[in-house]
Amino acid sequence: MDADTQPEADFDREWWKEAVVYQIYPRSFNDSDGDGVGDIPGIIEKVPYLDDLGVDVVWLCPVYDSPNADNGYDIRDYHAIMDEMGTMDDWEDLLETVHDHDMRLIMDMVLNHTSDEHEWFVESKDRDSEYSDYYYWRDGEDGELPNNWTSIFGGDAWKYDEEREQYYLHIFDEKQPDLNWRNGDVREDVFEMLHWWLQKGIDGFRLDVINLISKREGLPDGEDNPGWVGWEHVINGPRVHEYISEMHDEVFADYDIMTVAEMPGCGVEDAKQYCGEDGDGLNMIVHFEHADIPYKPGGKWDLQDVDVDLDELDDLDDPDTHFNNWDLNELRDVLTRWQIGLEGDGWNANYLGNHDHPRTVSRFGDSGFFRVASAKLLATLQFTLQGTPFIYQGEEIGMTNVEWESFDELRDVEAIQQTEELMERHDADFEDVRHVVKHRSRDNARTPVQWSDEENAGFTDGEPWIKVNPNHERINVEAAREDEDSIWQYYRELVDLREDNDTLVYGDFHLLYEDHPSVFAYLRTLGDSGVLVVLNCFARNETFTLPPNLDADDPELLIGNYDDAGDDPTEFELRPYEARVYRIS
Ligand code: GLC
Repeated sequence: MDADTQPEADFDREWWKEAVVYQIYPRSFNDSDGDGVGDIPGIIEKVPYLDDLGVDVVWLCPVYDSPNADNGYDIRDYHAIMDEMGTMDDWEDLLETVHDHDMRLIMDMVLNHTSDEHEWFVESKDRDSEYSDYYYWRDGEDGELPNNWTSIFGGDAWKYDEEREQYYLHIFDEKQPDLNWRNGDVREDVFEMLHWWLQKGIDGFRLDVINLISKREGLPDGEDNPGWVGWEHVINGPRVHEYISEMHDEVFADYDIMTVAEMPGCGVEDAKQYCGEDGDGLNMIVHFEHADIPYKPGGKWDLQDVDVDLDELDDLDDPDTHFNNWDLNELRDVLTRWQIGLEGDGWNANYLGNHDHPRTVSRFGDSGFFRVASAKLLATLQFTLQGTPFIYQGEEIGMTNVEWESFDELRDVEAIQQTEELMERHDADFEDVRHVVKHRSRDNARTPVQWSDEENAGFTDGEPWIKVNPNHERINVEAAREDEDSIWQYYRELVDLREDNDTLVYGDFHLLYEDHPSVFAYLRTLGDSGVLVVLNCFARNETFTLPPNLDADDPELLIGNYDDAGDDPTEFELRPYEARVYRIS
């Protein structure tokens, strides 16, 4: 649809609603100096590439000074750039280059915790220091820990500090102590620092685990569960809205920016309180309800539903399917709930993968025979739901999970701790749990972007900090750009389609066929305009019939992932992982 045929606007246009976001995990993006670690000059080299893809906003994962216990999510100095990544001058160049390309830059900001090497934490070990109350310091009673909470990464959430002679709370790694947001001085310092970045001209923030900043008074014991103990006292805590609204009023309200809040354990009703009309002023939420579906009830590393012995896993006909055995009803229910729930009252962030999950096509699609078709289908889903689409680096060429051959290949703090616990719990060695790692480790998403079929996938001239996926010989950007049927080209088309079509951005969502086992179909409508989306989510053939109450008036196929789809959506055969999008009025 061209601009002339766009329906009359009766909605609030916002640049961050119309934008396509691309997430960069800098360590793994592009290395310019041969030290094996991606860096800021490496990103600058690739800004034209992002522009070619049609990206509007770059989300940069942390590049601040950090000892890298959690690859930058443990910030030692909020005002400095990590040596491995470059300098503040490099960063300024990046911002300028992004802006020169008419794109925007949002920074990942970690405010729930700092590094234990941050000056505030170091000072807070002295009980007389002005930073004494910047973190959660507690005594243990009778040799016991202050409470039974565990860390999301495994093990206890408390660590004893010899100098202060007290325990401190760390919901993540022991090198990531939690900030005490109850202390007004903490909030004041944080807000000042946020202004400092915004004054540099950035276009917004992605706020890391921001719904974890208010812990329940008294830090009571958590209920026993196979995953993270204590979460109910940490997630969406009692004062969280007060803190976030304060941050909005004191900082964000002064700028025209995009705020994306990462919120584990956030449901759609909670989300409205954060990003709805009467909410705290955030723009959108990265929730986990759909992303967690292929995991088991106790979380990512819970094996209770793996109904075979670990040492038999290798003998399964198809261990990949065994791990990613998800139900379309569940996915459809979650996405529909969020689509309808936030319609007119909030906004969705449509992502399927990021640096915290294994690769999207390996989880929700098929990383083998139907890799290309299924990656295109998943992209179609992301670009045709209401909300802002987020592309995670490498998704645009359908990068897949990796075979981890030995424990030494793992790099991620979570993967290392959880794999160790798993081996201990099951008295197993790495070979026995290899499949679990392949389907659960965050390292899968952190292998370097595959730029070419050259050595190290063209990512570095040096020794890469993490394994490169050997399939880069086949799957790489260079090849994808040369192939007119590639996933990359399909993303390009989706970007254009969404850009020219307000119905895809602002239109309402209507679900068709509530419980079809393979086909996810919906309608987007805006005024008189309608777009029909039909996605056959598995590797079987299906038939689609347009519901009789819908008229396809002068229909037109807007995009599809098989090249011989017809223009009539009334009734058609769907092939494995087939996706079709029709304009129907
Ligand atoms: C978020 C980040 C993740 C990090 C954690 C702790 O979930 O996305 O990578 O490990 O927070 O900061």
